[in-house]
Amino acid sequence: MKTVAFIGGGSFGTALSTIVAAKGCRVNIFDIDQEHLSRMEADMENKDYLPGVKLKGDYHFCRTGEEAVRDADFVVFALPAQHVRSAISAAAPFIRKDAVITCISKGIEQKTHKRMSEVIGEYFDLDRYVCISGPSHAEEVGIGVPTAVAMSSRKEESAMAMAELFMNNRFRVYLNDDMMGMELAASLKNVLAVGSGIINGLGYGDNTLAAMLTRGCAETTALGVVMGARPSTFFGLAGIGDMIVTCTSIHSRNFRCGRLIGQGYSPEDAIKEIGMVAEGMYTAEVVHELAESLNVEMPISDAIYNVIRGNITVEDAMETLMGRPMGYEMDYL
Ligand SMILES: NC(=O)c1ccc[n+]([C@@H]2O[C@H](COP(=O)([O-])OP(=O)(O)OC[C@H]3O[C@@H](n4cnc5c(N)ncnc54)[C@H](O)[C@@H]3O)[C@@H](O)[C@H]2O)c1
Repeated sequence: MKTVAFIGGGSFGTALSTIVAAKGCRVNIFDIDQEHLSRMEADMENKDYLPGVKLKGDYHFCRTGEEAVRDADFVVFALPAQHVRSAISAAAPFIRKDAVITCISKGIEQKTHKRMSEVIGEYFDLDRYVCISGPSHAEEVGIGVPTAVAMSSRKEESAMAMAELFMNNRFRVYLNDDMMGMELAASLKNVLAVGSGIINGLGYGDNTLAAMLTRGCAETTALGVVMGARPSTFFGLAGIGDMIVTCTSIHSRNFRCGRLIGQGYSPEDAIKEIGMVAEGMYTAEVVHELAESLNVEMPISDAIYNVIRGNITVEDAMETLMGRPMGYEMDYL
């Protein structure tokens, strides 16, 4: 049986671990928060991030990253995007040369504007790396709600190995050969999820949400295409699929964070209230900088960024968006 190491025992890492544990794999979990790790071990449940899901199977709670990864066939980095570099640089020397690696983070590194595969490519041969993305709330994966995701790798064999590891009759995997598109779609949609929450918090209805998602999808696709991604990826599981799930659900931290802002919380207080990382709050700045440097018009993401930064009120942002000059809908393609 295979050994699967999870670096990060948060919501999604734990949810994914239940799939491989149920298949009989050995699961090694390391988390930088040792008290959280001890609570998980004592309760055989992740009460901090994924309450209600019992951890059954061959689980091992490791006190160091080295202990978790050294015998692992597969290594899953399951952390917020801004923590990925430090976790990978610490674990890299101990990872087996033939291990297949993935990172589930949906974000872009703030300082460098690098996608996760670009960060990981500094430490590993990308032939061994697989990107996983798609509409997959941890809360639902953890209880076996039927879910479909996409996986992408420079080497098809690696993507196939990772797909086989996770595939079961409740978790379906499709392959996609546009990793950059998948990574961008996954990260950019978190900003729109904050916006969807803001709209909900303001009390606007389904029309506003649908308009924002459709036009949001248009502008994220436009940025993706300029960066070299394929437009079709933005209409797949990692694109529109993940957008639907993140922008319409109370499970989404980004949505909940935005909703608090729409209800009048300051962005800082909304982050504190959520108490967990809402990636969109950080990605908004990266998207703003990318759009500006690549000269791509992204009015919705920009409005969300300006609200998060406190530059404009949510009411002013809505007024500006609704007052933009008329244009052709499909200009971006
Ligand atoms: N929650 C979901 O439903 C979901 C689904 C798909 C993808 N994602 C993405 O996965 C990433 C992680 O999300 P999450 O919800 O699992 O996060 P989380 O906040 O629930 O958990 C993150 C965990 O990582 C740990 N950690 C932080 N730095 C570490 C380090 N250097 N070494 C080891 N552990 C460290 C934290 O202590 C915490 O336990 C995010 O980018 C998110 O967008 C989340």
